[in-house]
Amino acid sequence: MTDRLVSADLTKSEREQEAQLRPQNFSEFIGQTKVVSNIDLMVKSALIRESAMDHVLLSGPPGLGKTSLAMLIAKGLGSELHVVSGPAIEKKGDLAAVLTNLKPRDVLFIDEIHRMHITVEEILYSAMEDFRLDILIGQGASARTMQIDLSTFTLIGATTRSGLLSNPLRDRFTAHLNFDYYEPEKLAVIVLNNSRKMGIELSSEAKNQIALRSRGTPRIANRILRRVRDFALVSGTLEVGMHEVNAALNLLDIDNLGLDSMDRKILSVMKSYYSGGPVGIDALAATLGEDKQTIEEVYEPYLLKQGLILRTPRGRVLSDSAVKHLP
Ligand SMILES: Nc1ncnc2c1ncn2[C@@H]1O[C@H](COP(=O)(O)OP(=O)(O)OP(=O)(O)O)[C@@H](O)[C@H]1O
Ligand SMILES: [Mg+2]
Repeated sequence: MTDRLVSADLTKSEREQEAQLRPQNFSEFIGQTKVVSNIDLMVKSALIRESAMDHVLLSGPPGLGKTSLAMLIAKGLGSELHVVSGPAIEKKGDLAAVLTNLKPRDVLFIDEIHRMHITVEEILYSAMEDFRLDILIGQGASARTMQIDLSTFTLIGATTRSGLLSNPLRDRFTAHLNFDYYEPEKLAVIVLNNSRKMGIELSSEAKNQIALRSRGTPRIANRILRRVRDFALVSGTLEVGMHEVNAALNLLDIDNLGLDSMDRKILSVMKSYYSGGPVGIDALAATLGEDKQTIEEVYEPYLLKQGLILRTPRGRVLSDSAVKHLP
């Protein structure tokens, strides 16, 4: 693994704990059945062909399992996984170094691929299509291109915003697989499995409650589980019921729709400052003092999915159910 470029969105301790909870094989990878059946077929075909798997683009909101799936793919192929983060690659040479180090059938995972610098991205075109690097040497009249052959490898790109990918890059992925928020029933299975990995015993009611309040996102379910475990540890029992779950949800400021304080802030700013909208994303971001991209990638997709915000040609508007939900 190329540690230097590993994505750094989570804190170190959170990343370590997340690693313990990662599904270790496909049977532990719950839900996303469409994505998984596509991947299953592609992995099996690659094994039969004794060749690299086709390049695949995984898209969807954060915390839904893109990195976990990439790890399982490499494991299924019996290949080494190399992980880099798109925005962390500053120079063409950095990516060229990663590419020339790949062995036949290795898997290269590029996280947040939509945030890669365009000049860096360009060297991926020939690498993905012809397994070749075209490098320009020298300047002006004496400039010439040098070609370096690469091993046949598999590129897995992960993105929270597939719409922001350039066309040439998007076209070079043969499979485009989209992750969706998890149904509560699927999350309940993940919660149960992970509670066992943490050594706590959840009542069935407690398990379902966590699943309902996790914003359709396994990473958030894990976060709630960790607080629940803390409560259990401190009160000296490993058996956990609704009392501990509700205490954890209160502490994390998660309401009965699974919304956190930022979700609610977005809705209430739309209500009080913009009379329910329509409001443009730039104005909303400025009023909230929050990064526009974070609102679009992290918060808005779930609010849209829950029908709390509606998109109109003139901007975002609050739905009736959002108005009812707000105090
Ligand atoms: N399908 C799944 N089955 C079981 N557990 C899952 C699944 N998807 C995700 N998880 C759990 O959620 C955690 C976060 O998943 P992961 O890091 O793969 O998300 P991600 O989509 O890569 O997020 P990001 O976009 O923020 O990088 C994992 O450590 C794992 O515990
Ligand atoms: Mg990830």
